[in-house]
Amino acid sequence: MKVDVKRISLKENDLPLVILGVLEEAKEDIMLKGLNEIVGEILELGDFKGKTGQMSLVYTQGSIATKRLLLVGLGKEEKLTVETVRKALGNSSRKARDLDVKKVGVNLDFFSRNKLDIVETTEAIVQGVVMGSFQNITYKTEKLEKYKKLDELQVFSETVEEDIMKKGAESGKIIADSVNLCRTLAWGPANYITPTKLADEALRMEKETGIKTTIFDREKTKEIGLTSFLAVARGTKEPPKFIIMEHGADKQGVETVALIGKAITFDSGGISIKPGQNMEKMKADMTGGAVVIAAMEAIAKLDINLHVVGIVPATDNMPSGTAYHPGDIITSYSGHTIEVINTDAEGRMVLNDALTYAAKHYEPKAMFDFATLTGAMMIALGEHAVGYFSNHDFVVDKLEEASKSSGDKIWRMPLWEDYDEQLKSDLADFKHTGGRPGGSITAARFLSKFTMDVPWAHLDIAGAMEQSSDKDYNPKGSKGPAVRLIIDVLRNW
Ligand code: BES
Ligand code: MN
Ligand code: ZN
Repeated sequence: MKVDVKRISLKENDLPLVILGVLEEAKEDIMLKGLNEIVGEILELGDFKGKTGQMSLVYTQGSIATKRLLLVGLGKEEKLTVETVRKALGNSSRKARDLDVKKVGVNLDFFSRNKLDIVETTEAIVQGVVMGSFQNITYKTEKLEKYKKLDELQVFSETVEEDIMKKGAESGKIIADSVNLCRTLAWGPANYITPTKLADEALRMEKETGIKTTIFDREKTKEIGLTSFLAVARGTKEPPKFIIMEHGADKQGVETVALIGKAITFDSGGISIKPGQNMEKMKADMTGGAVVIAAMEAIAKLDINLHVVGIVPATDNMPSGTAYHPGDIITSYSGHTIEVINTDAEGRMVLNDALTYAAKHYEPKAMFDFATLTGAMMIALGEHAVGYFSNHDFVVDKLEEASKSSGDKIWRMPLWEDYDEQLKSDLADFKHTGGRPGGSITAARFLSKFTMDVPWAHLDIAGAMEQSSDKDYNPKGSKGPAVRLIIDVLRNW
């Protein structure tokens, strides 16, 4: 989608449709005064009240240049945040798209109310439209004849200078594109979105941005000793890839932050095979890897002033004659021995090697991992929030701050040592699963053994990875969870 900005009044702007945000108790909303002729009646009659999520389409009958006004409710003024704006634009952009409008205008003056920052509001508008109208038609053959598509967005204002709007529009577009890339990868089928495809995506970014990409294949990971990662990869013929991406490696005097993403391109469970029902959903078990790869592109394009290392261990988890067995003891890259209990707990097998690799080779100031790690997390928090675990308050502060601006909901979970009891092994240093009670917590405790005391947070995105129906700026499907969150963590660093 093409995004531009323009300084022009609503009355002069000749567009097929303009979206206007309207606060609750709209009759008193001074902003609408100039439009009394057009929207006076719908407000007077009380058909449109400006409640959050409410939408009404008004035809201007030639009274101003724009053909249609789409009013979208923003709710009560005292509750208004940039997240309200992002959601309103998500919903209204889909409505505009369904009318087969190719170009949509958004009047910034109707959104950047009172306390909201103008650049942040512009950013949220662009994010809302670009994320909200996202659809993946890659695998459809009818394509454009059947699927309507928004081609252009114009954010305009009568009073705000174009340079200021441009700032928010550019970052908004970069970040929303990154979320959409994450969704495209995460929701794509396992026969297309293979470890090789993820590696290709990382290599594309090397060409198009300043990112440095390194790919280890099966042989190379063997040579290095990424044994725990390889234990999972052993069961599949699909070539595994251990992907490393670096932004800002040549920046002087900046801190290093590592991002690690679980990329199980298909999780069948392996020898501890999953039941057939819903198994197809496990094509998205590489969402964590997609978060990291997609975020890296935005990090590079925004040229964030940090050294950011992205590590994505990517492989299928399949049952076969060469697959790892329950009961196997694996010596991981860290040197710890791990007793495999259930081959379906493969995420922590690939992640522990990636965490050790990051801690050892890059000595980062902090590490964040993203993983669709446990079904238990879905049970605990449902689809609205990401549960996270951290060993350090400074990482917690960064995440909580970024959650407010990005709108990605997160919830801190406990990481108490008490849970280690469930990981005791008779033969090895520890078992890799601890049974059903507190399943997300024992998984996090397991990972904590591989962080080499680096301040770290583990984000279990299993619940929040997908959306069951269109809602706000998330169309049904992959949400691209925590992409905005981690970008904001790094922007605010
Ligand atoms: N990828 C799954 C977790 C998952 C399940 C994510 C459903 C999203 C939706 C993970 O690899 C897994 O299978 N975890 C097991 C762990 C268990 C064997 C200890 C689980 O949660 O059942
Ligand atoms: Mn699994
Ligand atoms: Zn998995």
